[in-house]
Parts: sequence; structure tokens; C-alpha cells
Amino acid sequence: MLELPLRALLLEDNPHDAELILRELKTSFNVDATVVSDEGSFLAAIDPTFDIVLADYNSAGFPASHALAALKTAAPDVPLIVISETLGESTAVALLNNGAADYLLKDRLSRLGQAIQRAIDERQLRRAKHEAENALILAEERIRFAIEASRVGIWEADLRTGTIRWSEMLESLHGLAPGTFGGTLRAFLERVDPADRAAVEGAIHRAASERTDGSVLYRTRRADGSVRWISASGRTFSDAAGRPLRAAGIAQDITKRIRLEEQYRQSQKMEAIGLLAGGIAHDFNNLLTAIEGYSTLMAEAMRTDDPLQAHLAEVRRAAERATALTRQLLAFSRRQILEPRVLGLRDSVTSMGPMLQRLIGENVDIVVRERGEPGHVKADPGQIEQVILNLAINARDAMPRGGTLTFEISDARLTNADARSGATVVPGRYTLLTVSDSGYGMDAETQARVFEPFFTTKQKGKGTGLGLSTVYGIVKQSGGYIWIDSAPGAGTRFSIYLPRVEEAVETPPPRSASESLTGSETILVVEDEGAVRMLVRRALERYGYKVLTAGTPLEAIELARGSGERIDLLISDVVLPQMSGRALANHILEAKAGTRLLFMSGYTDDAIVHHGVLDEGTPFIQKPFTPQALARKVRQVLA
Ligand SMILES: Nc1ncnc2c1ncn2[C@@H]1O[C@H](COP(=O)(O)OP(=O)(O)OP(=O)(O)O)[C@@H](O)[C@H]1O
Ligand SMILES: [Mg+2]
Repeated sequence: MLELPLRALLLEDNPHDAELILRELKTSFNVDATVVSDEGSFLAAIDPTFDIVLADYNSAGFPASHALAALKTAAPDVPLIVISETLGESTAVALLNNGAADYLLKDRLSRLGQAIQRAIDERQLRRAKHEAENALILAEERIRFAIEASRVGIWEADLRTGTIRWSEMLESLHGLAPGTFGGTLRAFLERVDPADRAAVEGAIHRAASERTDGSVLYRTRRADGSVRWISASGRTFSDAAGRPLRAAGIAQDITKRIRLEEQYRQSQKMEAIGLLAGGIAHDFNNLLTAIEGYSTLMAEAMRTDDPLQAHLAEVRRAAERATALTRQLLAFSRRQILEPRVLGLRDSVTSMGPMLQRLIGENVDIVVRERGEPGHVKADPGQIEQVILNLAINARDAMPRGGTLTFEISDARLTNADARSGATVVPGRYTLLTVSDSGYGMDAETQARVFEPFFTTKQKGKGTGLGLSTVYGIVKQSGGYIWIDSAPGAGTRFSIYLPRVEEAVETPPPRSASESLTGSETILVVEDEGAVRMLVRRALERYGYKVLTAGTPLEAIELARGSGERIDLLISDVVLPQMSGRALANHILEAKAGTRLLFMSGYTDDAIVHHGVLDEGTPFIQKPFTPQALARKVRQVLA
């Protein structure tokens, strides 16, 4: 290492003495010295880059004690050694007390090198200590910042006295003002929700007796009634004899995480139930089509006064009820085929007014309000009616002694910040329909489950628990959101957001009044389910049509190519083996241009029908259907 020269400042008015001192210095150091003789030049020269200051006890009337004082302000870190002819003991002690590094008599100059070295070493030590202290302060600041930023609360318990200390953050996590925590185990347990107290006490005892690290999750209820989840953990410290002395740890508010997990579980559950419900509904639709269809055909074939007619009627009524249930399940699973149209929600509500009033009874007032410019939405009108109806019936049930049912339609904008129920929100303009009642409301547990199929709080036989599941499915399938605000005794408000569209309202084509259900055209029926295929054939033949059938698309294509006859109508299932109904239709159209199309389905597959919406204008009929409904649809398509 390159030895840097010793930078020395020498205050000495006697040139001879200065000479002697410099010579002595040079015996031990490579010196870069500045020599000054009076107050003015000393004050001008001092700066913190000197390694050492050597001061005559009194140089040209400027005493060393003053030089020391000046140095303390200008360069406090630089050591000063007093050099003097003579020096009384008490004067020397006073100088040292005031911060001189050392003193030396002029006839003992040989000690100078040693004294300087010691002064420099001490200065080095002082610096190192100072740096270490600074580093410690910095580290503490960092930790304090980290603790504050992470909103971690800190606790400490003296296990001999039973006193507990909480940091201000921990007090604030429990909704307490700084310094108001009682400082005992009892005071802590009072902050814990009664439902979690036993678990917390258990965890504390376990941690104390087993002397292990422990953690516990509990709820705390703040003065404003809000509930927060706190996760606390800690460690027990023992003395040399193994007796527990104190415990300490941290605690955090993890409410947000718990809620997110809950919402995630909830949406996973809805997804799983939806899949199950959709699968069941699909199979049931085929079965019910056969039951309804064949019993209708049987009824029509029997004499009207046949005693078995009554039994058949029972079979058909049961099948109808099963059909209605299946429809609701299908709606919930978002697998219905929708026929969306541009419509105004206010019209949907008002057109149902008289019907709703009759249904709900006279002691409930219905209010319909419009705020702002709600615009239009694109939705299946029948499904929207279903939504309104189900919500209205629930509201009625929640107001047994009467009340008010309010529909409000308004313009709304959603941003990501509005996301509720764990799901994200597509930002944009929406039409908001709120349906509020002044009924008995719901607690949080009920609210969390209302959209589940078959969840009902109503007496057996009173509710199936499918009303809101249907609503949920329809809203979701229409690209919307539904949120609940409710509290026991405070009524309920459902908010339904549907994406706003700018197009004008579409009016449906009028139904032809004089409906003849018969015809003589040729119809090709493609359906893989044998019972349904046979039923459709029989039904159509009864209404006078000529019917060809195929169980698979390939069979159907062969049939179309092979026959010279024209085919007026293709009736095909949407979901088929080998290829989709849509693809089959294209093949048939290649062979027989001009063939009309009618799709039937009990179920939609996203891959074939995007979000359950067939190409606009494509005729279809939802399974299960009655022979009559089929015949009516066929006439519409062929018209
Ligand atoms: N407006 C409301 N006020 C209070 N509770 C309601 C309200 N709407 C729904 N609920 C609660 O949600 C539950 C589920 O409602 P949902 O409409 O799905 O089924 P349901 O009405 O019980 O039966 P269903 O509609 O199939 O006849 C109800 O049983 C009730 O507890
Ligand atoms: Mg209901």
C-alpha cells in the first residue's frame, strides 16, 4: 500500500522550535507540514484533511486552548497535541478534558512520533465506531419502515407478570386508538370474536406448554361492526433453566386474502355445479322429449273418452314439470340457446306490470323508475322476463305483510375497481336494473349461497331454490353481472348490469294469426338419439309431411346426394357425432340448394354455438318440445 504523507499543521511562533519539531516528525513520518505562527494564519489554515495538529501552548499570544476550541468547530475529527516548554498538571488535565489528544514537553520531543501514532489510531477507532453507529441507526430505520409499510403489528408478553404490550399498529388492526389496549390476556381475548376465543386460548396454551412457535387465525370485531381476520404468530423464550420468560411475535390483517379465497372458492363451486347441472339437463331433455312426445301421440291416437286418457294426462303433467325444472337447470349452467334482441329494459318491466301486480298481490306497491338515459341492451326478451319474474316472486315472499318493490333502470359505467365477487369486470357502459324490496333481507351466509341451484330457505314444497340460479345463469350468459346488497331487516337490492348497445330496439315479426299446422313438404330429420328421431318422424307424418330420417350426418349426406327428390327442410340436432349440425347443413345445401334449415337442441356447445347464441336468424327449437310446437315451428320456417 502506498504510504500517504502525514498532513500536519504546526502552530509555533518560535522558528527554532518549529525547526526542531519538524525534524523530529521526519524521523517517524513522511511529512507534509504547514507551519503557522498566530491566530489569524491558524484559523485560515485549519481544515478537516489534516491528520494532526501540533500547537504550542501559547503561540504569539494565541493559547492552545483557543486553538483547540477553534479546531473543534472547524474540523472536530482532527486530533490536536499540545507542545509546551512547561505545563502544570492541572492545565494539562483541563486541556485533555477539553478534547486535546495529548500533551508533550519540548524537552521530550522524542515521544512525538508515538503520541501522533496513538492520536491517529484513536481517531480511526472513533471513526469506525461512528460508522457502526450510523449503520445501526440506518438498519433500525429500515426495519421500522418495513414493519410500518407491511402493516405488521408486534406484540410482546411477559409470562411472569402476564402483561402484554402491543405496537400501535397492532392496536389499530384491532380498531383501537394508540395506547388504549388493556395489556392483559383478558383484554386481548375480549378483542377476539367469541366464536374464535376457544381456538385462540388453545393455541396460546399449546405454545406455552410445548414451547414451540405457534400461530393462530381469529376474527376481531371493530367498534363500527366490521369484522377483520387477524393472523398472529409468535415464539416463547425461556431462561437458562428452561422456564418460559416471555413470548413475542407479529400479527397481520389478512381479511382481504381470506375474502379473495372465499370468492375464488365460490366461483369455482358455481362453475362445477354449472357443469353438473348442464350435463344432467342435456340428458334429461332428450328423455323428456321422448316422454312428452310419445304420450302426446298416444293421447291423440286414443279415443277422447278412453279411461286411460286421465293417466296419460298425469304423465304429461309430470313431464311438463320436469321440463320446467330442466329448463331452469339449463339456464343456470348458461347452456341455453338464447335468441337475443335489442330491447329497452324499461319496456320489459312495464309490459309485465299488470301480470306482476296480479302475481304479487295488492299489499305490495310496485314502483318503476328510470334515471338518466339507460339506453338499450341485447338480450333474450323471454329470459329477461324470467329474470324479472323470479326476482319479483322472491321479493313478494320476503314481504309477507306487504311493502314496496322498486324497479330502477339507469345508465352505469363499470371499471375494474367495481369488480365484486372475485370476478373481474369488463369495463364499459352498462344498463343497470336494480330490483329492491323492503322485505326481511338476508344475512351474509344466505347471500353467499342464494345463486346455488336448490338452495332455498323456504319450507319444503314452497321453493325449489332454482329461481336465483336461473337469474344468475341468464345474466352471466348475457355478458352481465348481478350483485346483492342486503342485511337482515333492511330489505334486499339486486343490481343487474347488462352491457349497453347503441343499436335501435328491434320489434319481433308478428305471428301469423291463422295457423295451420299441416303440410306436405319433404323433411329430412337428423338426430342421433333413436327415440327422439322416431318421435319427430311420427309427429311430422301425423301433420302430413313426407319424412326421411338419418342417425348420423354421413348417412344424411348420402341420402341427400342419392335421392333425386327435393328436400324442403332439414331438421337437425345442433350437436351430432362426426360433425356439427351447422357443418352438416352446409353439405346438404351443396347437394340440395334451397333447403330450409331448422335446428333443435337441448344443449349448446360453446365450440359450435358461441356463448349459446346461434347465428342470428337461424331457426331453432329447444328440446324438449311437443309435436304441436314442432309442427308450428316447421310451418314458420317453411312459410
Ligand atoms: N328478495 C329476497 N329477500 C330475502 N331473501 C331472498 C330474496 N331473494 C332470495 N332470497 C333468499 O334466497 C333463497 C334462494 O332464492 P331462489 O329464488 O333461488 O329460490 P327460492 O325462492 O327459495 O325457490 P324458487 O325460486 O325455486 O321457487 C330464498 O330461499 C331466500 O332465502
Ligand atoms: Mg325464488
